[in-house]
Amino acid sequence: MLYTILHRGNTVWHDPKMSRSPSHQSWHPASWQGRVAGQQPTYPDPAAFDRTLASLGRLPPLVTSWEVERLKGMVAAAQRGEAFVLQGGDCAESFDECSSENVVQKLKILLQMSVVLLYGMKKPIVRVGRMAGQYAKPRSADTETREGQTLPSYRGDLVNRSAFSTGDRVPDPELMLRGYERAALTLNFVRALVDGGFADLHHPENWNLDWVQHSPLAREYQEVTRSITNALEFMETVSGRPLHHSRRVDFYCSHEGLHLPYEQAQTRFLEHRQRWYNLSTHWPWIGMRTAELDGAHVEFFRGISNPVSVKVGTGMSDEWLQELVQVLNPQNEPGRLSLITRFGAGNIEEHLPRVIRAVRAVGANVLWVCDPMHGNTETTAEGMKTRRFDNIIAELEAAFRVHQEQGSYLGGVHLELTGDDVTECTGGARGLTDGDLARAYKTQVDPRLNYEQAMEIAMRIAGRRPPSAPPLA
Ligand code: PEP
Ligand code: CO
Repeated sequence: MLYTILHRGNTVWHDPKMSRSPSHQSWHPASWQGRVAGQQPTYPDPAAFDRTLASLGRLPPLVTSWEVERLKGMVAAAQRGEAFVLQGGDCAESFDECSSENVVQKLKILLQMSVVLLYGMKKPIVRVGRMAGQYAKPRSADTETREGQTLPSYRGDLVNRSAFSTGDRVPDPELMLRGYERAALTLNFVRALVDGGFADLHHPENWNLDWVQHSPLAREYQEVTRSITNALEFMETVSGRPLHHSRRVDFYCSHEGLHLPYEQAQTRFLEHRQRWYNLSTHWPWIGMRTAELDGAHVEFFRGISNPVSVKVGTGMSDEWLQELVQVLNPQNEPGRLSLITRFGAGNIEEHLPRVIRAVRAVGANVLWVCDPMHGNTETTAEGMKTRRFDNIIAELEAAFRVHQEQGSYLGGVHLELTGDDVTECTGGARGLTDGDLARAYKTQVDPRLNYEQAMEIAMRIAGRRPPSAPPLA
């Protein structure tokens, strides 16, 4: 395939004969093409594919290096125990759901959760959406068979369409442009809301979701927001001026950097920094299925200057992890590398102490984040994919406790959630059962926490008040 298009300044050139390069060799945005790239679609028309990537490479970036570097500084603060990261959103965004209402709902729930966390943890909360680009998904199989017909698997709206027909499932390069545009529309709206007063801490009532009034958690939430606005008013009266940063918040976006040609096309060399940045998002992560040391994703990620994360599951050995942290952050730069553990409630006790010790042994500075979703997925008797709230809480509680026992610091959570009243995960304040799932099961991929379940998680974390112990290295 010919998608070797490099972008350095305004120069574009092709380099189709990339050799296999070990990680100490020179990096450029296409060097990943010399490695095995897992989870990539096969496009039937390579010329159309190359044309689309060339267009994508000419379009302006979605984020700026100033934003990316500011986020890196916040991640570094979280590593030191001085901030906490709240990262959340859909498992996969869909193009159809790029609407005013959906963006607002998601922003509302993340802002509400962050206020509860701010109140409980008494430290800055770094708000990060799985948003504005979370359009590509890893799949367990390349194809799907239904009633004797075999078609390519649905890999997210960036690649193909979910309906089960040949026309829908064939990877379509135009969808990369549609994805880029929707990411831009989403970011534009989020920025306008955040800058225009929507995120003003003096007016948390802006974020109330309609049915919050009927929620068993409403009273507690309202008490938190009342305390915060009272405290703000008190401080501003005493100091005689508005508090810095209380009228707007920083909000960052993130997605799995899975579709490497798409990510490469938005990767730019910035003369003023003399570094490469992936400007399709602030904070990309490497998924669990594509974290091989000699794989294409690790090769691509090692050369971009963004903060980056890697998902860590039970299958990752100590040696693998130790090499990964060295390849991805050879200078041990603060804020550069986060590890998102996703072991499952039944496995965390066995694996988390091990990986904390492995990272400590090489003296690496990382931010530890807990994803209590992806290790706790199960299928009901009716064949529906779900997650039980109790398992999610159990993994989260264990993560806080194990980090504390190991003298480490859990600096963030990574959640799949929505601001809507869906029924995809069971349990929580309303005790949803398997039988309730069919009522509002909307996800195309993984089951998400609904509004109320997400708030409950924030309240549980806030109630824990984890210690502000400094991190290890
Ligand atoms: C995800 O975050 O949606 C995902 C696929 O996670 P993981 O790579 O941890 O399985
Ligand atoms: Co998911």
